[in-house]
This record gives sequence, C-alpha cells and structure tokens, in this order.
Amino acid sequence: MESVKKIAILGYGIVGSGVAELFYTNRKQIEKKAGTALDLKYILDIRDFSDSPYKEKFTKSIDDIVNDDEVVAVAECMGGVEPAFTFIMKCLEKGKSVATSNKELVAFKGDILLKTAKNNNCNFFFEASVGGAIPIIRPLHKCLAANRITQITGILNGTTNYILTKMETSGLTFEDALKEAQQLGYAERDPSADILGDDACRKICILSSLVFGKQVYPQYVYTKGIREITLEDISEAKEKGYKIKLIANVKEINEKITVSVSPTLVSTENMLSQVSDVFNAVMIYGNGMDKVMFYGRGAGKLPTASAVLGDIIGSISSDGTVISQYWESSENSDFIESFDLNNYTTLKLKSGKELIILN
Ligand code: HSE
Repeated sequence: MESVKKIAILGYGIVGSGVAELFYTNRKQIEKKAGTALDLKYILDIRDFSDSPYKEKFTKSIDDIVNDDEVVAVAECMGGVEPAFTFIMKCLEKGKSVATSNKELVAFKGDILLKTAKNNNCNFFFEASVGGAIPIIRPLHKCLAANRITQITGILNGTTNYILTKMETSGLTFEDALKEAQQLGYAERDPSADILGDDACRKICILSSLVFGKQVYPQYVYTKGIREITLEDISEAKEKGYKIKLIANVKEINEKITVSVSPTLVSTENMLSQVSDVFNAVMIYGNGMDKVMFYGRGAGKLPTASAVLGDIIGSISSDGTVISQYWESSENSDFIESFDLNNYTTLKLKSGKELIILN
C-alpha cells in the first residue's frame, strides 16, 4: 500500500486555518500534483480548539512534529520572528521542508533559513510572504532569471490599499476603513505594522534580497506609512489626476540599490492607480523583458493559503532536491544608497505633505 506522507501547520490563525481548509477542499488535486498520498497530521497552536473538526491534530509541542519521520513538509503561519524562527530551524535541521507566509521572519532571517535548508537538503519556500496569492517569488527567481532586474515598484500591503480605496470611494474615515480591513482578516495582529509601512517594507526587503542576492534588512529601507493621510489629501490628489497609494520601490542607482516605502501620488494613467481594495500589484523592470506586472489578492485567508500550499506541493514533488532560492547574508549596507527625496519628482499638498509622483 502506498504510504501517506504527512504535513503539519504551525499556527492556526487566519492563514493556518485557511491552509487546513484549502487542503481538505482540494486534497485529491493536491495529492495528484504532489505525486503522493498526503494528510495533515499536526496543527501546532498554544490555544485550545476543542470544537474544531481537526481537534485530534492539535499539539502544543513542536517536538511532536520535529521528531515524527512521517512529516515531510511544514507550513509555518504563526507570524513574528520568534518562536517561528526557532521552530523552523528545528524542522529544517531534520530535513523537513518549510513553506511560510511570515514576511517578518524572511525579511530578518531569510539568509540563515535558506542556508540551513540547503545544508540539510530540503527547501525553505516563502511565496506567500509577498503579495498573498500572487505568484511573485518563483517567477522572479525562475522565469525572469535571465534578466538584470533594475526596478521593482508595487502595492504590497492589502490593508492599506483597502483603507485608501475606501477613503477615496466611500468617504470612510481612516479608523472605520481599518476596522473593516481587520474584520476581513487582512490586517496584521498589530495593524500598526500595516499602517506605518513596516509590512510593505518587509515585503520589498524580500524581493530586493532575492533579486540583488544579499539580505536587505528592514532598517536599510526608508519607510513611511499612511497614518497621516487624510480625506482632504485624497480629494486634492484626485482633483490633480492622482490616487494616493502606498508604494514600495527598489531600484538601481549608481551600482547600488535604493529601497523605499511611502505614500505616493500615482497618476490615473498608471496601471497601479487601478489596483483597489485588498489587491496588490507588482511591476518588475528588467533589461530583457522590459516590464511585467503581477496582480492579485494580497491578503486574506484562502488567497494566502493558496500560496502556502503551492509551496508545500512544490517541496514534496521536488523530492529531496533543493530548488529554493538563495541569497547571501549582508555584513553592512554598503550596497544600499540612502533614500533622497531630491532624486524624485514630488508635489506638495495643501496639508504640507510632500509626496513622490509616479507617472
Ligand atoms: N497585513 C498584510 C496585508 C497581510 O494587509 O497585506 C498579507 O501579508
């Protein structure tokens, strides 16, 4: 009889519960694509879920998962650097591949985790950490590998895009729009990471590290969020032919890169201005393909679970081959050019805020 390979989920929050739900909804198809019979054996969470249909699968001990040879791949959906980092290291050191949706972790510890995976002949995947459901990591790493990437510009945070859209289209206050985003499961546990720009910063760090081959840490990135954007700013921008979007950007300047996250006046002629609600979009520029754009749901339970499970399938079907991407640690920030507003075209709004223009 064919043996059934097992997977585990770390963290049963919005994304983790989405991974369980999508796995059982599409199990047959997932097994076919993974090339093996599969089941979910463990869910790690410190909370009690005695009413859950999966109540028998819950454990509070990572060692149950680490020491179980049947478990071949682990979906980490806990968020935060610790204890996720320690738990993932334990799994990788045992040769279990890990797929994560945890952008904070990848932005701070990606280099170490990728190295550990490689040394243990398994994979560390993080497609779900940037852009929710949008396939972006693998296309950048594989399909666009022949290009020298010169710039990445995008909307990488669903919560703030939802807030800005609702403020613009329904005249909702910042607070009410944020409340809705929280109810829809888009926002981080501490939504200040969304509204202050830290979440988008972590995501552009991941894309930058991937493209430029060295860990780009969040502290190297100029980061400004949307907390101070008012309904008046949004309507003034509209009168002048712009939408205000939280734009994450990395581009080459003088053989270095400069990385930023800031509220930006996006011309209504630019496709990024049409990206609304929780949707994200990423525009990538390269010397072969010119430019390509990726678009999709950037947050939410099943869209993010879709990316996590895609990685789980990838790690199981790659069967012992290390196919995950790789980048070096960075000892210093010599390769980062500090952000300078003078390098951009800007416009001062009546409120005194000076915003970059993206045409
Ligand atoms: N809080 C994040 C966002 C979740 O709104 O984009 C997805 O990473």
